[in-house]
Amino acid sequence: MPTPSFLADFRPQPLSDLFAADPARAEDLAFDLAGIRFDFSKTHLSRDLIDRLDPMPYGAALASLLAGEVVNATEGRAAEHPAERGTGSPDAVALAGQRRHRMRALIDAIEAGAFGDITGILHIGIGGSALGPALLVDALGRTERRYKVEILSNIDGQSVDAALARLDPATTLVAIASKTFTTAETLRNADAALAWLEEAGVEDPYGRLIALTAAPERALEFGIDETRILPFAPSVGGRYSLWSAIGFPAALALGMDAFEQLLEGAAMVDEHVAEAAPQANVPLLAAIADLLYTQQLKAETRAVFAYDDRLSLLPSYLQQLVMESNGKSAGIDGQPAGGHTSAILWGGTGTDAQHAVFQLLHQGTHLVPVEFVAVAAQGDEQDPAHHRELLLNCFAQGAALMAGRSSDDLHRDYPGNRPSTTILLDDLDPTSLGALIAFYEHRTFAEAVLLGINPFDQFGVELGKEMARAIDDPETRSAFDPSTRALIEKAGL
Ligand code: F6P
Repeated sequence: MPTPSFLADFRPQPLSDLFAADPARAEDLAFDLAGIRFDFSKTHLSRDLIDRLDPMPYGAALASLLAGEVVNATEGRAAEHPAERGTGSPDAVALAGQRRHRMRALIDAIEAGAFGDITGILHIGIGGSALGPALLVDALGRTERRYKVEILSNIDGQSVDAALARLDPATTLVAIASKTFTTAETLRNADAALAWLEEAGVEDPYGRLIALTAAPERALEFGIDETRILPFAPSVGGRYSLWSAIGFPAALALGMDAFEQLLEGAAMVDEHVAEAAPQANVPLLAAIADLLYTQQLKAETRAVFAYDDRLSLLPSYLQQLVMESNGKSAGIDGQPAGGHTSAILWGGTGTDAQHAVFQLLHQGTHLVPVEFVAVAAQGDEQDPAHHRELLLNCFAQGAALMAGRSSDDLHRDYPGNRPSTTILLDDLDPTSLGALIAFYEHRTFAEAVLLGINPFDQFGVELGKEMARAIDDPETRSAFDPSTRALIEKAGL
C-alpha cells in the first residue's frame, strides 16, 4: 500500500513557523477529553494536513467496529472490546454485562470468605493476558490494594521463583488467564503453581484455581470447576482484553466499582470517536500525526515517556497494543503493504530517561516523535517540590526538542524542530486511565484504517510458537539449521 494519499506531497513547515503563523496554535491543537489534555501543537500536525484527509473510509470502518460488525477480515470476526464498555451489538453488550455480574459475584464470594482467608492472587498469563492487568494494578493500586497481586508471565523459572516467593500458598488464589487456554508458557506456569500449592499442603489445590478465558471448555478439561471460570468473547482480542474477565485481578485488588469506572472512562472515548467531527477526533488526529512521521518523514520509531512512575508499565503495554496490531506487511486486501506500517514503539520513564536516552532525541540523527504522558495532580506523599520538578522537567523537554539552540560548534548545536505530543491527565484514577488506554486503542485502529491493514490479527507470532514446539521434538529438530542445532548441543538440551 503506498503512502496514504492525503499525505502525498505534504511537506510540513518547521514547528517554529507553524507557531509564528498561528498565534492560537497552542489552543487550536490541544484537546480536552475525559479529564485529559492532548496537546498536539508541538507536532507538525496542521489544519492544512487534517483537512486533506477524506474522513469517509475511517468513519465507515469505525461505525463497523462500534456496531460489532466483522472488522477482523482475515479471521472473519468482529473486534468486540468496545462491547465490554457498552458499545456494540445489543447481544454482545448484554452478554458482556452478564459476564461482568458473574465476575462481581465471584469477587463478592472471595470477600465473603468462600475460599477461606485469602490475602493474594497469583495471576498467570502472558502478552495481552498479563500486560493490561499488570498496568492497571500498578497504576491504580500502589497505595490502596485490597489483595496482593503477583503477575507471572514469563516461562523463565526465575520469574516463577520470584513470584511464588512473594506469596503465601495458604492464602493465595491462582487465576489462569489465557484467551485460548493453549499458551505454552501459561500452562507450564499453571502446573508450577499447582505443584506449589500441593507441596505446601493445600487441601484442594484445584479449588484455588480461577480461569479467565474465551475457551471455557479447555479450562474445564484442565480441571477448573465451571463456577470458577470467567469467560469472555472470542471476538475480544488478547491485547484488547483488559476490559473483560482478563481484568479480574485488577477488579479484585482495586474493587469492582473502580473496575466499572475504568470501563466508563473508556466508554467516554468510544462516545467521543463516534460523535466528534474528524477535525476534532482526538485519536484520529494522533493517528494522522503518526502517519505523517512514519510514512512521509520516514521515522522508524516513536517513543513514549511516562512522567509518572505509576505509568511506568504503559510503554510495554503500548508496545503490544501498537506493534502486535499494526506491525504488518500485508494490506487488508492481501497485497504487500508497500511502505512501513507501524512505527517501532519504545520508551521509558521521566526523568530517568533524560539521563540515559534523551541525548539521541535532542541531537541524534534519527527522527523520533516523542510522547510525554504526565499527571497534573500529585499522587505521592512527598514534598510537592518533587512533583513540581517532575512536571517542569517534562514540559522543558518538549520545549527544548522543539526550540533547539543553534551554535557554530556542531557539538553544541541542537537542531530543534523535533516533534512531541504531551498528554496531561488531570489526575490518575480509574476513569482517566480507562480513557487513556481507549484513546490508544482508537488511535491504533485509526492508523490501521488509514494504512489499509488489519489491526486485529497476529499471525506473525505463530511461526515462532510452531518452531518452539518443533525444536523440542527430536524428529523435527534435525530439520533446523546447523547454528541452531549447535546451540542446542552446547546448552546440553
Ligand atoms: O503470542 C501472541 C498472543 O497470542 C497474544 O496475542 C496474546 O495476548 C498472548 O499470545 C496470550 O495468548 P492467550 O491469552 O491465548 O494465552
